[in-house]
Amino acid sequence: MKKFAITIAGGGSTFTPGIVSMLLDYYEEFPISVIKLYDNFQERQDPIGEACKIMLQERHPEVTFSYTTDPKEAFSNIDFVMAHIRVGLYAMREQDEKIPLKYGVVGQETCGPGGMAYGMRSIGGVLEILDYMEKYSPDAWMLNYSNPAAIVAEATRRLRPNSKIINICDMPVSIENTFAGILGLESRKELIVRYFGLNHFGWWTSITDKAGNDLMPQLKEWVAEHGYESSTEDFQHRAPSWKETFRKVKDVYAVVPDMLPNTYLKYYLYPDYVVEHSNKEYTRANEVMDSREKEVFETAAEIIKNGTAEGYEFHAGAHASFIVDLARAIAYNTQERMLLIVPNNGALVNFPADAMVEVPCLVGSNGPEPLVMGEIPTFQKGMMEQQVAAEKLVVDAWEEKSYQKLWQALTLSATVPSAGIAKEILDDLIEANKEYWPELS
Ligand code: NAD
Ligand code: G6P
Ligand code: MN
Repeated sequence: MKKFAITIAGGGSTFTPGIVSMLLDYYEEFPISVIKLYDNFQERQDPIGEACKIMLQERHPEVTFSYTTDPKEAFSNIDFVMAHIRVGLYAMREQDEKIPLKYGVVGQETCGPGGMAYGMRSIGGVLEILDYMEKYSPDAWMLNYSNPAAIVAEATRRLRPNSKIINICDMPVSIENTFAGILGLESRKELIVRYFGLNHFGWWTSITDKAGNDLMPQLKEWVAEHGYESSTEDFQHRAPSWKETFRKVKDVYAVVPDMLPNTYLKYYLYPDYVVEHSNKEYTRANEVMDSREKEVFETAAEIIKNGTAEGYEFHAGAHASFIVDLARAIAYNTQERMLLIVPNNGALVNFPADAMVEVPCLVGSNGPEPLVMGEIPTFQKGMMEQQVAAEKLVVDAWEEKSYQKLWQALTLSATVPSAGIAKEILDDLIEANKEYWPELS
């Protein structure tokens, strides 16, 4: 049986050890011969690499493991790249969140002006990794978590139309875990869903079990009262700010009560509420630096100090299982049904063909085949048209180095109240991102 070779790009990511651990959990169903880590920041990757090396030696010593900052070494002779880079690191996420908040506007990693600023940093980094992969392993697939996925996906659609890259998000699978919990089911994999939208911007229209029983009524009854708050364990979204987001779904749901919403819609439907409930001095970036980032690097340091990974665990939930399932679906042509970010091309029949949308796809060795979700209603379509235009304008701005296009993008975001405020935020973002953005004129 063929064994697969995998490179994790953004090797120093807080999510790397969880994905490595999940690859080892799956070893029987998805045998691997090689895992390599790649990062452009050696000091950050080294401790993660060393800790993973110890973990691998103990669990699967037959897997060849290495970590490097050399692209040729990293991307040669591989079958898959699993990418999750953060250009600008947490220091820049903090700026993305705090600058808009100064002007009374939502400050969020992937939504609104902060998400656009992050997009302007990410596009170049993601294209660079894709180009390395194609240079050194032209047959490989890149499975990309790097955010903001909507903007990155539009950039790869437009600038690398023939590349084997699939952009993905873990929010729907995390929410589907919550659904399974509410329904008293073992696993989200018992659910068959219909869903449409953009990344971090969509709705479930149908949820059944494998026998075809409609599970929406039971879920709606729960959500109308509790939002997505439930006793289901969701390690990745366990922080108080995430719990609040899950509760707020109650109000997001009330706007479109025939469907179940993605949590991220709160930023577009209730921006005033979000701003009122934000701490301008201590945002989610600070929370993550003080929790996940700290914990992952402390655990790595302890593993290295003790020379063993026994007794330590790196969390590997839906986030890790989803990307490993995707690699496996391509490797073994499993035709698994998965929600992915793909060119619309008629999947949403009354929406532009060249929009990147998030819809269920069947996945096999030729990649994703999107399923037709049909016509979408006027309200959702209106919201999505505004949002997709804003995302496209960010990519225009990056390509053309255009201040005007980026100003238009910010202005168009439903999180921003006026062109004047958009301009003030933009001018601050330009100053903060000097090192990372193309120079705009
Ligand atoms: P992190 O800062 O801990 O890790 C990112 C790593 O990427 C860092 O080690 C950094 O040095 C590296 N990096 C930055 N630019 C690079 C480049 N050009 N080449 C190689 N490496 C580079 O961040 P994190 O919190 O672990 O998140 C990683 C990424 O995954 C982020 O983009 C985050 O938004 C994304 N993410 C996406 C989803 C999703 O649903 N799509 C879910 C979780 C995380
Ligand atoms: C969800 C989203 C990701 C996002 C993450 C942020 O899982 O799908 O796109 O990156 O949340 O989580 P954090 O813990 O970093 O705020
Ligand atoms: Mn996501």
